[in-house]
Amino acid sequence: ITEAVPVIAIDGPSASGKGTVAARVAEALGYHYLDSGSLYRLVALAAIQADAGDDPAAVAALAEALPAEFVGGRILLSGADVTDAIRSEDCAAMASKVAAIPAVRDALLERQRAYRRAPGLVAEGRDMGSVVFPDAANKFFLTASVTARAERRYKQLMEKGLPANIDSLSEELSLRDARDAARSVAPLMKLPDAILVETSDMSIDEAVRFVTERIA
Ligand code: DC
Repeated sequence: ITEAVPVIAIDGPSASGKGTVAARVAEALGYHYLDSGSLYRLVALAAIQADAGDDPAAVAALAEALPAEFVGGRILLSGADVTDAIRSEDCAAMASKVAAIPAVRDALLERQRAYRRAPGLVAEGRDMGSVVFPDAANKFFLTASVTARAERRYKQLMEKGLPANIDSLSEELSLRDARDAARSVAPLMKLPDAILVETSDMSIDEAVRFVTERIA
């Protein structure tokens, strides 16, 4: 019997720093890295392009067939580079909507589990520890205040030259958190066996160190 490939699950709300922290931890350990939110964002973009956002069955079919590729740090959808496009607030809002469709989550399940390859995986999202990799040896829940998260997202968007407004970002984050936490399938929540990481007053380096020191 071969030992299961180790998984470090990092869940939390938008702009909690989990993306950067997860990528840095993966790099430090030489592990693979799964940004599961990008899959929901890709489905969202496909739904926007097909004008199918209001048709759950059509969105599920798009998720099932999702022609996405990850090459050299770029993300392609049907061959087109959508790395920046999937980071827009429109796409984020639609991602939160399509992520509440059970058939969409089912369609993406095996695709996510396929990332579990030796020597290990750092997976980040909302349900990494609860649904996708419930047997993960290490589970973390990264969070921060809405204000801290809105400020981070604002900076990220500005750096990318994308339009941003701090008040509407705060409002959208709260709305999206509420939807991600209230949905009936795989809601965002802190599991009893997950370690809480409150990053409002932590730098990225501090959060990376906090997590790394607690990996069993
Ligand atoms: O982490 P993110 O902001 O890129 O995620 C985009 C949306 O996808 C977010 O509203 C929640 C959803 N999501 C999810 O439901 N489950 C995941 N494992 C990852 C993201």
